[in-house]
Amino acid sequence: SDERLRRVRDRVRSFPDFPVPGVLFRDISPLLKDPVAFRTLIDLLEDHVRASFPKIDFIVGLDSRGFLIGPPLAQRLGIGFVPIRKKGKLPGPTESVSYALEYGKAELEIQTDAVEPGQKVVIVDDLLATGGTMCAAYELLKRLKAEILECLVVIELKPLKGLEKLSSIPFYSLLQYD
Ligand code: PRP
Ligand code: MG
Repeated sequence: SDERLRRVRDRVRSFPDFPVPGVLFRDISPLLKDPVAFRTLIDLLEDHVRASFPKIDFIVGLDSRGFLIGPPLAQRLGIGFVPIRKKGKLPGPTESVSYALEYGKAELEIQTDAVEPGQKVVIVDDLLATGGTMCAAYELLKRLKAEILECLVVIELKPLKGLEKLSSIPFYSLLQYD
């Protein structure tokens, strides 16, 4: 599994000062481009989730990079995928939460009928930075009375202390960066 983790980590590139000065951008494009590495990523996430939770109803993914990871993982697990989107994209009744981002400000939405009370979900995104996005997603699912088993990301940016914002919320990251 160290070998598998290395294969995934080797396909993450870093760009200083993108999209704004002072931000070191971790780019997963090479990971998506390499079918062996991307399969390995989904293998590792599947193994983690299967070992941790006997039953899950849905994988919930966050607009937009969470949409690259969530659906293939949900397919592997044989379960459905639910999108949380940026404001104004989802039709019908929605819940929304605004949040501060590492760079900028935004609002996330979920369709009110997306998850039934008590259904078990794992929230998936590519990356945890300040934790604002993941906290907003957690809040949306709480409003729908979902049972949130875990917040799961590929990459955790340790110095931004997003984990502190998540406090007691169950969290797992595959790769950590200092
Ligand atoms: C990035 C990333 C995470 C979020 C993490 O998304 O994909 O969703 O930032 O930052 P945080 O922990 O400080 O909230 P971004 O909002 O840039 O949009 P994208 O996924 O559509 O590229
Ligand atoms: Mg994102």
